[in-house]
Formats: sequence, C-alpha cells, structure tokens
Amino acid sequence: MAIFSDNAVKETPKKHKNPITQSDSIEYDKTFENSIRPKSFEDYIGQSALIETLKISIEAAKKRNTPLDHMLFYGPPGLGKTTLAGVIAEQMGAAIKITSAPALERPRDIIGILMSLKEGEILFIDEIHRMNKVSEEILYPAMEDFSLDMTTGKSQTVKTMRIPLPKFTLIGATTKAGELSSPLRDRFGILKRLEFYTIDELAKVVTRTAGILNIDITEEGAKAIARRSRGTPRIANRLVKRVSDFAIVKYDGIINEDVAESSLDVLKIDEFGLDTTDRALLKLIIEKYDGGPVGIETLAAALSEDVRTLEDVCEPYLLQSGLLQRTPRGRKVSPEGYRHLGIKNIPVQGSLFD
Ligand SMILES: Nc1ncnc2c1ncn2[C@@H]1O[C@H](COP(=O)(O)OP(=O)(O)OP(=O)(O)O)[C@@H](O)[C@H]1O
Ligand SMILES: [Mg+2]
Repeated sequence: MAIFSDNAVKETPKKHKNPITQSDSIEYDKTFENSIRPKSFEDYIGQSALIETLKISIEAAKKRNTPLDHMLFYGPPGLGKTTLAGVIAEQMGAAIKITSAPALERPRDIIGILMSLKEGEILFIDEIHRMNKVSEEILYPAMEDFSLDMTTGKSQTVKTMRIPLPKFTLIGATTKAGELSSPLRDRFGILKRLEFYTIDELAKVVTRTAGILNIDITEEGAKAIARRSRGTPRIANRLVKRVSDFAIVKYDGIINEDVAESSLDVLKIDEFGLDTTDRALLKLIIEKYDGGPVGIETLAAALSEDVRTLEDVCEPYLLQSGLLQRTPRGRKVSPEGYRHLGIKNIPVQGSLFD
C-alpha cells in the first residue's frame, strides 16, 4: 500500500549566494563537510549544556530499553544540528534515515519513510518548519502513538485503519522554530536551541579540521580564524581551507596569526567575521534609510538577496553581536554597528529605540 519514495530520503540543497556561508559547489562542499563531521560526543565541540542533558537522556533510554524522546534542534545554519543527529544515532547504536521537509511533498513520501523504519531507528527531518499540513497530520499519531491512521473508501463508506509502527525517534532540525506549528512543536519531548560557539571552541574546531586535512597551523593561527568565524563551525571549517590555500601559495604553508589575518583581509572577512554581504546590509540601512527602521523585504530587494537568506544567514549573527537591532517597525543599525563600519554620525539615542 505505501509506496516508498527514494527521492524523499536525501538532503535538499539550499539556495543562497553568500560566498562564505554557501560555497560555489554544493556537492563538493557536502563531501568536504561529511569528511570532517564529528561522529561521536568526544569529537563534538562546545554546546556543553545541551550535550550533558542529551547524554543523560540517552543513558536513561538505554537503561529503560525505550526509544529516545523525539527531539527538535533549532538555531542558525552551520551550528551542528545535522551533526548532532548523527552523533546521537551513533551513541544509541541506531541507524539514521535522513530526509528534509521539502522532499516530503506527497503523503506517500512520509508514509513510505515511516513504514520503512525499524525498531529504535532515528528519523531525521531537516527544515521541519517546511512540512505541509497533510504530511504533518500523518506525523502526529506516528510521533504520539507510533501508529499510522489510514483512511480508505470515499465519503459515506470511509473507514479508518490504525497501522502500528515500530518505536522510532524523530529528530527535527530547523533554522526557524517560530514557523513550526504548535501541534507539531508540542509533540517533541526535547526542544533545544544551539548557541553560537565561543572563540576557544571555534579554535578547537579549526585545529581539529586542520589535523584531519593535514594543514599546519599554530595555536594563534587557529584563534585568528576562530575570531572571524561568526560563532559558526561551518564557517570556521571553510575559512581553514581558504586560508590554507593562501598559506601554501603565498607563504611557507604554515598558518600562523599573521598568515591567517592577512589572508582573511584579502578575503574581505573583517575582525567581526562580517563578510561583504553583512557590511552591505548595515551600510545600506545607514546610508539609504538613516540607520532604520526599515523592513526586511525592502532590504532584500535593494541587495538582490532573498529574504530568507537575510533572515536565516546574515541576521542572527548581526543581532547576536549587537550590530543590528530588530524592532516592530523593521531593522535598525545599533551604535556599535555604526562604530564597526567606522561611520561617525550615529543618530541620537532617542530615535534608536522607537
Ligand atoms: N560541535 C561541533 N564540533 C565540531 N565540528 C562541528 C560542530 N558542529 C558543526 N561542526 C561542523 O560544521 C559543519 C556544519 O554542521 P551541520 O551541518 O551539523 O550544521 P547544521 O546546524 O545542520 O546547519 P544547517 O542549518 O545549514 O543544516 C559540519 O561539517 C561539522 O564538521
Ligand atoms: Mg543541517
């Protein structure tokens, strides 16, 4: 009855243009990411509070011999949500099936995957905020009672059948927890936000990646890359590779502080880790809209970027680092944002908080 769709079990590439957060070749990049992705808790750096609670949940589930609670991980791109799902599967000794909500267009896609699961397996759904209503409703009884409610027949003769499913764990990931419907959100037992990484944590990520790729790097070199990685391991990893190219071509192959900083300057990544798109966004608000507030759609149109890229990729770090402020009437550049760009005519405080 259920037709399993192979197409649904794969990650869909995301479309955006930022050269640092999105590399030119998605396929090449996936291979690179997978080759350096931590596979166990020992290799997973940072997020310590989250990791502690997860370890306890896993231990308890193993002792009770029950599946793990369904989990939702949310936070900006590149902070390690997909990686964490893999680590959890490894720790549970369970197989993981990976899909993403846009690949689950038709009811038979989600039904097919649910019916293919085995006891204790993990189903990972990326971009889960993009599930459509019909698929979501199929998921509710599956999450709650490990069963599928199937209907057969038409109007008067309609019959509902309940089909039992093996006990599985759903791990959802999203960059936009706010867009998840509340019935779906409420069915997760564990909801956790991934935080931006500290410089020290990112320096460890950089050193680990350099080790895997056989790149020579000093402690100070790793710190310099970490400082400009916007709190994000994915960006740290990409920068290691880029800086290593410079080190090989222009220097003696070793990444020290000077090599890292001058290479990152050439790549136009500034001391805050902002790239050209981030600076263009701040500059636009200051120069064309008097510092804001201005709506995100207007900004996206002026920069020829899509709204989702600005909201999901650029904004979270600008907000977190206090350079940008979100108000009910739109985005504003903070006094720090002005200072960072070296622009002196900061508007009077009053107008910044309306
Ligand atoms: N805690 C970590 N320790 C070491 N490396 C990490 C960690 N988290 C992420 N990484 C590295 O960063 C890369 C991106 O991580 P991941 O794909 O898990 O991010 P994500 O949160 O799923 O992003 P997206 O929202 O775009 O799907 C991985 O290739 C991995 O190598
Ligand atoms: Mg992911």
